Amino acid sequence: MTSAASDRAQDPTTGHEWWRTAVIYQVYIRSFADADGDGVGDLAGIRSRLPYLRDLGVDAVWVTPFYPSPMADGGYDVADYRDIEPVFGTLADADALITEAHDLGIRVIVDIVPNHSSDRHVWFQAALAAGPGSAERARYVFRPGRGPDGAEPPTDWHSTFGGPAWTRVPDGEWYLHLFAPEQPDFDWENPEVVEEFEDILRFWLDRGVDGFRIDVANALKKDQSFPDVGTEDESVLVPHEGPTHPFWDRDEVHEVYRGWRKVIDTYAGDRAFVAEAWVDDPGRLALYTRPDELHTAFNFNFVRAAWDADELRRTIDVSMAAATEVGAPTTWVLSNHDVTRHATRYARLDRTGGGVADGERVRPDTPLDPELGLRRARAAVLLLLGLPGSAYVYQGEELGLPEVVDLPEEVLADPIWERSGHRVRGRDGCRVPLPWEPAGPSLGFGSAEPWLPQPADWADLSVQAQQGVDGSTLELYRSALRLRRELLGRGGLEWLDSPAGSLVFRRRTPAGEVLCAVNLGTEAIDLPTYDRVLLSSVPLEGDHPHQLPGDGAVWLT
Ligand code: GLC
Repeated sequence: MTSAASDRAQDPTTGHEWWRTAVIYQVYIRSFADADGDGVGDLAGIRSRLPYLRDLGVDAVWVTPFYPSPMADGGYDVADYRDIEPVFGTLADADALITEAHDLGIRVIVDIVPNHSSDRHVWFQAALAAGPGSAERARYVFRPGRGPDGAEPPTDWHSTFGGPAWTRVPDGEWYLHLFAPEQPDFDWENPEVVEEFEDILRFWLDRGVDGFRIDVANALKKDQSFPDVGTEDESVLVPHEGPTHPFWDRDEVHEVYRGWRKVIDTYAGDRAFVAEAWVDDPGRLALYTRPDELHTAFNFNFVRAAWDADELRRTIDVSMAAATEVGAPTTWVLSNHDVTRHATRYARLDRTGGGVADGERVRPDTPLDPELGLRRARAAVLLLLGLPGSAYVYQGEELGLPEVVDLPEEVLADPIWERSGHRVRGRDGCRVPLPWEPAGPSLGFGSAEPWLPQPADWADLSVQAQQGVDGSTLELYRSALRLRRELLGRGGLEWLDSPAGSLVFRRRTPAGEVLCAVNLGTEAIDLPTYDRVLLSSVPLEGDHPHQLPGDGAVWLT
Protein backbone atom coordinates (compact mmCIF):
# COMPACT_ATOMS: atom_id res chain seq x y z
CA MET A 1 0.00 0.00 0.00
CA THR A 2 1.24 3.49 -0.71
CA SER A 3 1.49 5.71 2.29
CA ALA A 4 -1.53 7.77 1.19
CA ALA A 5 -3.59 4.62 0.79
CA SER A 6 -2.49 3.30 4.16
CA ASP A 7 -3.36 6.68 5.67
CA ARG A 8 -6.84 6.40 4.30
CA ALA A 9 -7.24 2.86 5.56
CA GLN A 10 -6.41 4.05 9.04
CA ASP A 11 -8.35 7.27 9.03
CA PRO A 12 -11.63 7.15 10.89
CA THR A 13 -11.84 10.92 11.06
CA THR A 14 -13.12 11.65 7.59
CA GLY A 15 -16.57 13.19 7.76
CA HIS A 16 -17.28 16.29 9.72
CA GLU A 17 -19.49 15.02 12.50
CA TRP A 18 -18.29 16.24 15.88
CA TRP A 19 -18.39 12.78 17.46
CA ARG A 20 -15.72 11.42 15.13
CA THR A 21 -12.98 13.35 16.91
CA ALA A 22 -14.57 14.56 20.15
CA VAL A 23 -13.03 14.35 23.59
CA ILE A 24 -15.84 13.49 25.97
CA TYR A 25 -15.52 13.98 29.72
CA GLN A 26 -17.36 11.49 31.90
CA VAL A 27 -19.08 13.02 34.90
CA TYR A 28 -19.99 10.48 37.55
CA ILE A 29 -22.64 12.74 39.03
CA ARG A 30 -22.53 11.48 42.62
CA SER A 31 -18.85 12.34 42.89
CA PHE A 32 -18.22 15.39 40.73
CA ALA A 33 -19.41 18.43 42.68
CA ASP A 34 -21.94 18.85 45.48
CA ALA A 35 -23.69 22.23 45.35
CA ASP A 36 -26.39 21.67 47.98
CA GLY A 37 -24.15 20.37 50.74
CA ASP A 38 -25.64 16.89 51.26
CA GLY A 39 -22.40 15.04 50.55
CA VAL A 40 -23.56 13.82 47.12
CA GLY A 41 -22.81 15.49 43.79
CA ASP A 42 -25.66 17.07 41.83
CA LEU A 43 -26.68 18.88 38.65
CA ALA A 44 -26.12 22.32 40.20
CA GLY A 45 -22.60 21.13 41.08
CA ILE A 46 -21.94 20.22 37.46
CA ARG A 47 -23.32 23.58 36.32
CA SER A 48 -21.01 25.41 38.69
CA ARG A 49 -17.99 23.59 37.25
CA LEU A 50 -18.80 23.99 33.56
CA PRO A 51 -16.20 26.76 33.18
CA TYR A 52 -13.63 24.30 34.51
CA LEU A 53 -14.60 21.82 31.79
CA ARG A 54 -14.46 24.53 29.14
CA ASP A 55 -10.96 25.53 30.29
CA LEU A 56 -9.91 21.90 30.34
CA GLY A 57 -10.85 21.83 26.67
CA VAL A 58 -13.33 18.99 26.30
CA ASP A 59 -16.00 18.89 23.59
CA ALA A 60 -18.75 17.16 25.53
CA VAL A 61 -19.76 15.78 28.89
CA TRP A 62 -21.43 12.44 29.47
CA VAL A 63 -23.40 12.55 32.70
CA THR A 64 -24.07 9.20 34.41
CA PRO A 65 -27.72 8.46 35.36
CA PHE A 66 -29.49 11.32 37.14
CA TYR A 67 -32.97 9.79 37.19
CA PRO A 68 -35.07 9.06 40.28
CA SER A 69 -33.48 5.98 41.77
CA PRO A 70 -33.28 4.07 45.03
CA MET A 71 -29.51 3.85 44.27
CA ALA A 72 -29.25 0.09 44.54
CA ASP A 73 -26.62 0.45 41.79
CA GLY A 74 -25.61 4.10 41.98
CA GLY A 75 -28.46 5.28 39.73
CA TYR A 76 -28.22 2.47 37.15
CA ASP A 77 -31.49 1.34 38.72
CA VAL A 78 -33.88 3.86 37.18
CA ALA A 79 -37.34 4.35 38.68
CA ASP A 80 -38.52 7.00 36.17
CA TYR A 81 -36.76 7.72 32.88
CA ARG A 82 -38.40 11.12 32.45
CA ASP A 83 -37.49 12.86 35.67
CA ILE A 84 -34.56 13.75 37.93
CA GLU A 85 -33.59 12.21 41.24
CA PRO A 86 -34.30 14.87 43.91
CA VAL A 87 -30.82 14.33 45.42
CA PHE A 88 -29.44 15.47 42.04
CA GLY A 89 -31.89 18.30 41.38
CA THR A 90 -34.88 18.91 39.13
CA LEU A 91 -35.78 18.81 35.46
CA ALA A 92 -35.26 22.58 35.46
CA ASP A 93 -31.66 21.97 36.60
CA ALA A 94 -31.18 19.49 33.75
CA ASP A 95 -32.55 22.01 31.26
CA ALA A 96 -30.29 24.70 32.68
CA LEU A 97 -27.29 22.38 32.50
CA ILE A 98 -27.96 21.67 28.82
CA THR A 99 -28.39 25.36 27.98
CA GLU A 100 -25.38 26.55 29.96
CA ALA A 101 -23.15 23.81 28.58
CA HIS A 102 -24.21 24.68 25.05
CA ASP A 103 -23.48 28.35 25.71
CA LEU A 104 -19.92 27.33 26.58
CA GLY A 105 -19.60 25.14 23.49
CA ILE A 106 -19.90 21.87 25.42
CA ARG A 107 -22.29 19.15 24.26
CA VAL A 108 -24.25 17.00 26.69
CA ILE A 109 -24.67 13.25 26.51
CA VAL A 110 -27.01 11.49 28.92
CA ASP A 111 -26.96 7.91 30.07
CA ILE A 112 -29.84 5.66 29.08
CA VAL A 113 -30.36 2.33 30.83
CA PRO A 114 -32.54 0.10 28.62
CA ASN A 115 -31.66 -3.39 29.84
CA HIS A 116 -33.34 -3.05 33.21
CA SER A 117 -35.24 -0.62 35.40
CA SER A 118 -35.33 -0.25 39.14
CA ASP A 119 -37.68 -2.58 41.00
CA ARG A 120 -39.36 0.67 42.15
CA HIS A 121 -40.31 1.60 38.56
CA VAL A 122 -44.14 1.81 38.21
CA TRP A 123 -44.05 -0.88 35.54
CA PHE A 124 -42.32 -3.35 37.83
CA GLN A 125 -44.58 -2.51 40.73
CA ALA A 126 -47.57 -3.08 38.42
CA ALA A 127 -46.02 -6.36 37.23
CA LEU A 128 -45.74 -7.60 40.80
CA ALA A 129 -49.31 -6.59 41.58
CA ALA A 130 -50.88 -7.99 38.40
CA GLY A 131 -49.62 -11.55 38.71
CA PRO A 132 -48.60 -14.34 36.33
CA GLY A 133 -49.73 -14.17 32.71
CA SER A 134 -50.64 -10.46 32.85
CA ALA A 135 -49.71 -7.80 30.30
CA GLU A 136 -47.92 -5.98 33.13
CA ARG A 137 -45.62 -8.96 33.74
CA ALA A 138 -44.93 -9.27 30.03
CA ARG A 139 -42.84 -6.09 30.15
CA TYR A 140 -40.24 -7.93 32.21
CA VAL A 141 -38.83 -11.44 32.01
CA PHE A 142 -40.94 -13.54 34.37
CA ARG A 143 -40.77 -17.33 34.11
CA PRO A 144 -41.87 -20.33 36.14
CA GLY A 145 -39.10 -22.12 38.01
CA ARG A 146 -37.78 -25.61 37.51
CA GLY A 147 -37.76 -28.63 39.77
CA PRO A 148 -40.36 -29.65 42.33
CA ASP A 149 -42.75 -26.72 42.96
CA GLY A 150 -40.71 -24.60 40.60
CA ALA A 151 -38.34 -23.89 43.44
CA GLU A 152 -35.25 -23.87 41.19
CA PRO A 153 -34.44 -20.84 39.00
CA PRO A 154 -35.53 -21.14 35.34
CA THR A 155 -31.90 -21.22 34.11
CA ASP A 156 -28.42 -21.39 35.60
CA TRP A 157 -27.64 -17.78 34.66
CA HIS A 158 -25.57 -15.75 37.09
CA SER A 159 -25.93 -12.10 37.88
CA THR A 160 -22.98 -9.96 36.80
CA PHE A 161 -22.77 -8.79 40.40
CA GLY A 162 -22.68 -12.33 41.79
CA GLY A 163 -25.38 -14.81 42.80
CA PRO A 164 -28.22 -16.12 40.62
CA ALA A 165 -29.72 -13.91 37.90
CA TRP A 166 -33.26 -14.86 38.97
CA THR A 167 -35.27 -13.89 42.03
CA ARG A 168 -38.52 -15.55 43.07
CA VAL A 169 -41.62 -13.51 43.89
CA PRO A 170 -44.23 -14.60 46.44
CA ASP A 171 -46.60 -16.12 43.85
CA GLY A 172 -43.83 -18.50 42.76
CA GLU A 173 -42.66 -16.95 39.47
CA TRP A 174 -39.09 -15.85 38.96
CA TYR A 175 -37.87 -12.65 37.31
CA LEU A 176 -34.59 -12.14 35.50
CA HIS A 177 -31.97 -9.61 36.56
CA LEU A 178 -28.58 -9.77 34.89
CA PHE A 179 -27.44 -7.28 37.54
CA ALA A 180 -28.79 -6.74 41.08
CA PRO A 181 -32.21 -8.12 42.12
CA GLU A 182 -33.30 -4.46 42.34
CA GLN A 183 -32.67 -4.21 38.56
CA PRO A 184 -35.26 -6.39 36.77
CA ASP A 185 -34.56 -6.92 33.05
CA PHE A 186 -37.09 -5.64 30.53
CA ASP A 187 -38.44 -8.04 27.95
CA TRP A 188 -37.21 -6.60 24.66
CA GLU A 189 -39.43 -9.00 22.72
CA ASN A 190 -42.37 -6.89 23.89
CA PRO A 191 -43.24 -4.06 21.43
CA GLU A 192 -44.43 -1.93 24.34
CA VAL A 193 -40.87 -1.86 25.70
CA VAL A 194 -39.51 -0.94 22.27
CA GLU A 195 -42.00 1.93 21.93
CA GLU A 196 -41.45 3.15 25.47
CA PHE A 197 -37.71 3.55 24.96
CA GLU A 198 -38.07 5.29 21.62
CA ASP A 199 -40.37 7.69 23.40
CA ILE A 200 -37.84 8.21 26.21
CA LEU A 201 -35.21 9.03 23.59
CA ARG A 202 -37.53 11.67 22.14
CA PHE A 203 -38.22 13.08 25.60
CA TRP A 204 -34.51 13.88 26.08
CA LEU A 205 -33.81 14.81 22.47
CA ASP A 206 -36.63 17.33 22.70
CA ARG A 207 -34.92 18.80 25.77
CA GLY A 208 -31.79 19.35 23.69
CA VAL A 209 -29.36 16.58 24.64
CA ASP A 210 -26.69 15.82 22.06
CA GLY A 211 -26.74 12.08 22.49
CA PHE A 212 -26.91 9.02 24.67
CA ARG A 213 -24.52 6.60 26.27
CA ILE A 214 -26.29 3.25 26.19
CA ASP A 215 -25.83 1.14 29.28
CA VAL A 216 -24.99 -2.57 28.66
CA ALA A 217 -26.08 -2.14 25.07
CA ASN A 218 -25.15 -5.75 24.29
CA ALA A 219 -27.50 -7.41 26.79
CA LEU A 220 -31.04 -6.47 25.77
CA LYS A 221 -31.99 -9.53 23.74
CA LYS A 222 -32.18 -12.94 25.37
CA ASP A 223 -32.27 -16.36 23.75
CA GLN A 224 -35.99 -17.13 23.83
CA SER A 225 -35.36 -20.82 24.45
CA PHE A 226 -33.69 -19.84 27.74
CA PRO A 227 -30.91 -22.41 27.64
CA ASP A 228 -28.46 -22.95 30.47
CA VAL A 229 -25.07 -21.32 30.11
CA GLY A 230 -23.47 -24.34 31.67
CA THR A 231 -20.73 -22.49 33.51
CA GLU A 232 -20.13 -21.51 37.05
CA ASP A 233 -18.54 -18.27 35.90
CA GLU A 234 -19.61 -15.60 38.33
CA SER A 235 -17.00 -13.02 37.54
CA VAL A 236 -17.94 -9.40 37.61
CA LEU A 237 -18.41 -7.39 34.42
CA VAL A 238 -16.65 -9.99 32.31
CA PRO A 239 -18.11 -10.15 28.85
CA HIS A 240 -19.24 -13.24 27.07
CA GLU A 241 -19.90 -13.15 23.42
CA GLY A 242 -22.62 -13.98 20.99
CA PRO A 243 -24.20 -14.78 18.73
CA THR A 244 -24.70 -18.01 20.62
CA HIS A 245 -24.52 -16.81 24.21
CA PRO A 246 -28.02 -16.68 25.75
CA PHE A 247 -27.82 -12.97 26.53
CA TRP A 248 -24.51 -11.23 25.71
CA ASP A 249 -24.13 -9.72 22.25
CA ARG A 250 -26.83 -11.62 20.42
CA ASP A 251 -27.43 -10.75 16.77
CA GLU A 252 -31.05 -9.74 17.42
CA VAL A 253 -29.95 -6.79 19.58
CA HIS A 254 -29.07 -4.84 16.45
CA GLU A 255 -32.78 -4.50 15.53
CA VAL A 256 -33.21 -2.29 18.57
CA TYR A 257 -30.49 0.11 17.46
CA ARG A 258 -31.72 0.30 13.88
CA GLY A 259 -34.95 1.57 15.37
CA TRP A 260 -33.14 4.02 17.64
CA ARG A 261 -31.10 5.36 14.76
CA LYS A 262 -34.28 6.19 12.86
CA VAL A 263 -35.49 8.16 15.89
CA ILE A 264 -32.30 10.18 16.38
CA ASP A 265 -31.98 10.87 12.66
CA THR A 266 -35.24 12.81 12.73
CA TYR A 267 -33.47 15.42 14.90
CA ALA A 268 -31.16 18.11 13.59
CA GLY A 269 -27.90 18.91 15.31
CA ASP A 270 -25.69 15.90 14.70
CA ARG A 271 -26.75 13.93 17.78
CA ALA A 272 -25.04 10.65 18.53
CA PHE A 273 -25.08 7.39 20.43
CA VAL A 274 -22.22 5.63 22.17
CA ALA A 275 -22.72 1.99 23.12
CA GLU A 276 -21.35 0.50 26.27
CA ALA A 277 -20.84 -3.06 25.07
CA TRP A 278 -18.15 -5.20 26.65
CA VAL A 279 -17.55 -7.18 23.49
CA ASP A 280 -14.03 -8.59 23.10
CA ASP A 281 -13.97 -9.20 19.37
CA PRO A 282 -13.43 -5.85 17.58
CA GLY A 283 -15.25 -7.21 14.53
CA ARG A 284 -18.37 -7.92 16.57
CA LEU A 285 -18.11 -4.60 18.38
CA ALA A 286 -17.96 -2.82 15.03
CA LEU A 287 -21.35 -4.30 14.11
CA TYR A 288 -22.93 -1.88 16.60
CA THR A 289 -21.55 1.03 14.60
CA ARG A 290 -22.75 0.08 11.15
CA PRO A 291 -24.10 3.10 9.28
CA ASP A 292 -27.74 2.41 10.17
CA GLU A 293 -27.04 1.70 13.86
CA LEU A 294 -25.08 3.53 16.55
CA HIS A 295 -22.50 6.20 15.81
CA THR A 296 -19.84 4.99 18.22
CA ALA A 297 -19.12 2.28 20.78
CA PHE A 298 -16.68 2.28 23.66
CA ASN A 299 -13.56 0.38 22.76
CA PHE A 300 -12.43 -1.09 26.06
CA ASN A 301 -9.26 -2.66 24.70
CA PHE A 302 -7.06 -0.02 26.34
CA VAL A 303 -8.72 -0.76 29.65
CA ARG A 304 -7.78 -4.39 29.31
CA ALA A 305 -4.34 -3.99 27.79
CA ALA A 306 -1.18 -4.14 29.84
CA TRP A 307 1.43 -1.37 29.65
CA ASP A 308 3.14 -3.16 26.82
CA ALA A 309 4.12 -1.75 23.43
CA ASP A 310 3.24 -4.81 21.34
CA GLU A 311 -0.09 -5.36 23.00
CA LEU A 312 -1.08 -1.71 22.70
CA ARG A 313 -0.02 -1.50 19.08
CA ARG A 314 -2.00 -4.60 18.24
CA THR A 315 -4.99 -3.19 20.06
CA ILE A 316 -4.78 0.09 18.20
CA ASP A 317 -4.43 -1.54 14.78
CA VAL A 318 -7.16 -4.07 15.27
CA SER A 319 -9.61 -1.53 16.72
CA MET A 320 -9.01 0.95 13.94
CA ALA A 321 -9.25 -1.61 11.19
CA ALA A 322 -12.55 -2.98 12.52
CA ALA A 323 -14.10 0.46 12.98
CA THR A 324 -12.90 1.72 9.61
CA GLU A 325 -14.50 -1.30 7.97
CA VAL A 326 -17.94 0.07 8.92
CA GLY A 327 -17.01 3.75 8.49
CA ALA A 328 -17.07 4.49 12.21
CA PRO A 329 -14.48 6.26 14.33
CA THR A 330 -12.67 4.36 17.04
CA THR A 331 -13.07 5.48 20.62
CA TRP A 332 -10.29 5.37 23.19
CA VAL A 333 -10.86 4.90 26.92
CA LEU A 334 -8.48 4.42 29.84
CA SER A 335 -10.83 4.61 32.82
CA ASN A 336 -14.46 4.88 33.85
CA HIS A 337 -16.67 4.39 36.91
CA ASP A 338 -16.56 0.58 36.58
CA VAL A 339 -12.85 -0.17 36.42
CA THR A 340 -9.78 0.36 38.57
CA ARG A 341 -8.36 3.81 37.79
CA HIS A 342 -5.52 3.45 35.30
CA ALA A 343 -2.94 5.29 37.45
CA THR A 344 -3.36 2.35 39.82
CA ARG A 345 -3.67 -0.39 37.18
CA TYR A 346 -0.31 0.72 35.82
CA ALA A 347 1.14 0.82 39.33
CA ARG A 348 0.68 -2.89 39.95
CA LEU A 349 3.87 -4.72 40.74
CA ASP A 350 2.21 -8.14 40.69
CA ARG A 351 1.27 -7.87 37.00
CA THR A 352 3.62 -6.08 34.69
CA GLY A 353 1.92 -2.88 33.71
CA GLY A 354 -1.22 -4.84 33.92
CA GLY A 355 -4.65 -4.15 34.95
CA VAL A 356 -7.69 -5.66 33.46
CA ALA A 357 -11.31 -4.86 33.98
CA ASP A 358 -12.19 -8.07 35.68
CA GLY A 359 -13.62 -8.82 39.06
CA GLU A 360 -10.20 -9.17 40.53
CA ARG A 361 -9.63 -5.55 41.44
CA VAL A 362 -6.76 -4.06 43.30
CA ARG A 363 -6.99 -4.98 46.97
CA PRO A 364 -5.62 -3.13 49.97
CA ASP A 365 -2.63 -5.55 49.95
CA THR A 366 -1.88 -5.50 46.20
CA PRO A 367 1.75 -4.39 45.78
CA LEU A 368 1.75 -0.99 44.07
CA ASP A 369 4.23 1.66 42.98
CA PRO A 370 2.00 4.77 42.78
CA GLU A 371 4.75 6.99 41.37
CA LEU A 372 5.34 4.59 38.51
CA GLY A 373 1.58 4.31 37.95
CA LEU A 374 1.19 8.06 37.64
CA ARG A 375 4.21 8.37 35.35
CA ARG A 376 2.74 5.75 33.03
CA ALA A 377 -0.75 7.26 33.26
CA ARG A 378 0.66 10.59 32.07
CA ALA A 379 2.37 8.90 29.15
CA ALA A 380 -0.76 6.86 28.39
CA VAL A 381 -2.89 9.94 27.92
CA LEU A 382 -0.50 11.38 25.34
CA LEU A 383 -0.80 8.07 23.51
CA LEU A 384 -4.60 8.10 23.83
CA LEU A 385 -5.06 11.71 22.79
CA GLY A 386 -2.53 11.33 20.00
CA LEU A 387 -4.66 8.73 18.25
CA PRO A 388 -7.29 9.49 15.62
CA GLY A 389 -10.90 9.09 16.70
CA SER A 390 -12.85 10.06 19.78
CA ALA A 391 -11.49 9.87 23.32
CA TYR A 392 -13.01 9.71 26.79
CA VAL A 393 -11.63 11.26 29.96
CA TYR A 394 -13.02 9.98 33.25
CA GLN A 395 -13.41 12.67 35.92
CA GLY A 396 -10.32 12.96 38.06
CA GLU A 397 -7.91 11.26 35.69
CA GLU A 398 -6.84 14.77 34.66
CA LEU A 399 -5.70 15.18 38.26
CA GLY A 400 -3.82 11.88 38.20
CA LEU A 401 -6.16 10.41 40.82
CA PRO A 402 -5.38 6.85 41.84
CA GLU A 403 -7.91 4.22 42.87
CA VAL A 404 -8.70 4.44 46.58
CA VAL A 405 -7.85 0.86 47.42
CA ASP A 406 -8.36 0.96 51.17
CA LEU A 407 -11.84 2.41 51.68
CA PRO A 408 -13.18 1.16 55.02
CA GLU A 409 -15.49 -1.80 54.47
CA GLU A 410 -18.39 -0.08 56.21
CA VAL A 411 -18.58 2.66 53.56
CA LEU A 412 -18.58 0.33 50.54
CA ALA A 413 -21.78 1.02 48.59
CA ASP A 414 -21.31 -1.00 45.39
CA PRO A 415 -23.82 -3.91 45.22
CA ILE A 416 -20.92 -6.13 44.18
CA TRP A 417 -19.62 -6.05 47.77
CA GLU A 418 -22.78 -7.60 49.24
CA ARG A 419 -23.59 -9.82 46.27
CA SER A 420 -20.12 -11.36 46.25
CA GLY A 421 -20.44 -12.27 49.92
CA HIS A 422 -17.79 -9.64 50.77
CA ARG A 423 -15.24 -11.27 48.48
CA VAL A 424 -15.04 -8.49 45.89
CA ARG A 425 -14.80 -4.91 47.14
CA GLY A 426 -16.38 -3.52 43.99
CA ARG A 427 -16.10 -0.20 42.23
CA ASP A 428 -16.27 2.42 44.97
CA GLY A 429 -12.52 3.02 44.84
CA CYS A 430 -12.80 4.76 41.45
CA ARG A 431 -15.87 6.75 42.54
CA VAL A 432 -14.46 8.79 45.41
CA PRO A 433 -15.54 12.46 45.17
CA LEU A 434 -13.19 14.84 43.39
CA PRO A 435 -10.83 17.13 45.30
CA TRP A 436 -11.27 20.68 44.05
CA GLU A 437 -9.38 22.55 46.80
CA PRO A 438 -6.55 21.65 49.15
CA ALA A 439 -8.63 22.24 52.30
CA GLY A 440 -12.16 22.05 53.70
CA PRO A 441 -14.41 19.19 54.85
CA SER A 442 -14.50 17.55 51.41
CA LEU A 443 -11.58 19.24 49.63
CA GLY A 444 -13.95 21.61 47.85
CA PHE A 445 -16.34 18.90 46.64
CA GLY A 446 -19.08 20.45 48.79
CA SER A 447 -19.70 21.78 52.26
CA ALA A 448 -20.45 18.42 53.92
CA GLU A 449 -18.61 15.15 54.45
CA PRO A 450 -18.59 13.40 51.06
CA TRP A 451 -20.49 10.13 50.60
CA LEU A 452 -17.17 8.31 50.27
CA PRO A 453 -14.16 9.56 52.24
CA GLN A 454 -11.28 11.16 50.33
CA PRO A 455 -7.67 10.30 51.22
CA ALA A 456 -6.00 13.22 53.01
CA ASP A 457 -3.16 13.34 50.49
CA TRP A 458 -5.64 14.22 47.74
CA ALA A 459 -5.25 17.82 48.90
CA ASP A 460 -2.08 17.94 46.79
CA LEU A 461 -3.93 16.51 43.81
CA SER A 462 -6.79 19.01 44.00
CA VAL A 463 -7.65 21.22 41.04
CA GLN A 464 -6.53 24.32 42.93
CA ALA A 465 -3.20 22.74 43.86
CA GLN A 466 -2.44 21.85 40.24
CA GLN A 467 -3.93 24.78 38.35
CA GLY A 468 -1.24 26.88 36.69
CA VAL A 469 1.52 24.65 38.05
CA ASP A 470 3.98 23.82 35.32
CA GLY A 471 4.26 20.10 34.78
CA SER A 472 1.20 19.19 36.86
CA THR A 473 -1.04 16.47 35.49
CA LEU A 474 -3.92 18.93 35.11
CA GLU A 475 -1.76 21.26 33.02
CA LEU A 476 -0.53 18.30 30.96
CA TYR A 477 -4.15 17.43 30.12
CA ARG A 478 -5.01 21.04 29.33
CA SER A 479 -2.07 21.40 26.98
CA ALA A 480 -2.74 18.05 25.36
CA LEU A 481 -6.39 18.89 24.77
CA ARG A 482 -5.53 22.29 23.32
CA LEU A 483 -2.88 20.85 20.99
CA ARG A 484 -5.16 18.03 19.98
CA ARG A 485 -7.86 20.50 19.07
CA GLU A 486 -5.45 22.67 17.10
CA LEU A 487 -3.35 20.01 15.43
CA LEU A 488 -4.56 16.48 15.88
CA GLY A 489 -8.22 16.44 14.96
CA ARG A 490 -8.28 14.98 11.49
CA GLY A 491 -6.01 12.66 9.60
CA GLY A 492 -4.82 9.09 9.83
CA LEU A 493 -1.99 7.39 11.66
CA GLU A 494 1.25 6.04 10.28
CA TRP A 495 3.55 3.87 12.37
CA LEU A 496 7.28 4.59 12.27
CA ASP A 497 10.03 2.15 13.11
CA SER A 498 11.00 2.48 16.75
CA PRO A 499 13.11 0.66 19.34
CA ALA A 500 11.62 -2.44 20.94
CA GLY A 501 9.26 -1.55 23.76
CA SER A 502 8.27 1.79 22.27
CA LEU A 503 5.64 3.16 19.91
CA VAL A 504 6.18 6.00 17.46
CA PHE A 505 3.60 7.21 14.99
CA ARG A 506 3.02 10.17 12.75
CA ARG A 507 -0.22 12.05 12.33
CA ARG A 508 -0.47 14.05 9.13
CA THR A 509 -3.30 16.44 9.64
CA PRO A 510 -4.54 19.46 7.72
CA ALA A 511 -2.82 21.56 10.41
CA GLY A 512 0.58 19.93 10.00
CA GLU A 513 2.56 16.92 11.05
CA VAL A 514 2.85 15.60 14.60
CA LEU A 515 4.95 12.72 15.88
CA CYS A 516 3.91 10.85 18.98
CA ALA A 517 6.56 8.75 20.74
CA VAL A 518 5.80 6.59 23.75
CA ASN A 519 8.47 4.69 25.64
CA LEU A 520 6.90 1.81 27.52
CA GLY A 521 10.22 0.41 28.67
CA THR A 522 12.53 1.52 31.47
CA GLU A 523 15.61 2.52 29.40
CA ALA A 524 15.71 5.80 27.47
CA ILE A 525 15.19 5.56 23.70
CA ASP A 526 16.45 7.75 20.85
CA LEU A 527 13.87 10.13 19.46
CA PRO A 528 13.19 10.46 15.73
CA THR A 529 14.31 13.65 13.98
CA TYR A 530 12.07 16.60 14.79
CA ASP A 531 11.93 20.39 14.98
CA ARG A 532 10.16 21.17 18.20
CA VAL A 533 8.83 19.47 21.33
CA LEU A 534 5.13 20.25 21.64
CA LEU A 535 4.47 18.45 24.89
CA SER A 536 6.11 15.88 27.10
CA SER A 537 4.79 13.72 29.93
CA VAL A 538 8.22 13.69 31.60
CA PRO A 539 10.97 16.27 32.04
CA LEU A 540 13.40 16.17 29.09
CA GLU A 541 17.06 17.11 29.13
CA GLY A 542 18.44 20.12 27.27
CA ASP A 543 17.05 22.41 24.58
CA HIS A 544 16.70 19.82 21.88
CA PRO A 545 16.66 16.43 23.60
CA HIS A 546 17.57 13.33 21.62
CA GLN A 547 16.26 10.84 24.09
CA LEU A 548 12.97 9.95 25.73
CA PRO A 549 13.21 8.45 29.24
CA GLY A 550 11.37 5.26 30.22
CA ASP A 551 7.61 5.37 30.79
CA GLY A 552 7.46 8.74 29.07
CA ALA A 553 5.67 10.10 26.03
CA VAL A 554 6.24 13.13 23.85
CA TRP A 555 4.52 14.98 21.00
CA LEU A 556 6.92 16.43 18.48
CA THR A 557 6.62 18.46 15.33
C1 GLC B 1 -22.99 -0.67 33.21
C2 GLC B 1 -22.64 0.50 34.11
C3 GLC B 1 -22.44 -0.02 35.49
C4 GLC B 1 -23.74 -0.64 35.96
C5 GLC B 1 -24.22 -1.72 35.00
C6 GLC B 1 -25.65 -2.10 35.25
O1 GLC B 1 -21.95 -1.58 33.10
O2 GLC B 1 -21.53 1.18 33.61
O3 GLC B 1 -22.03 0.98 36.37
O4 GLC B 1 -23.57 -1.22 37.22
O5 GLC B 1 -24.16 -1.28 33.67
O6 GLC B 1 -26.50 -1.05 34.87
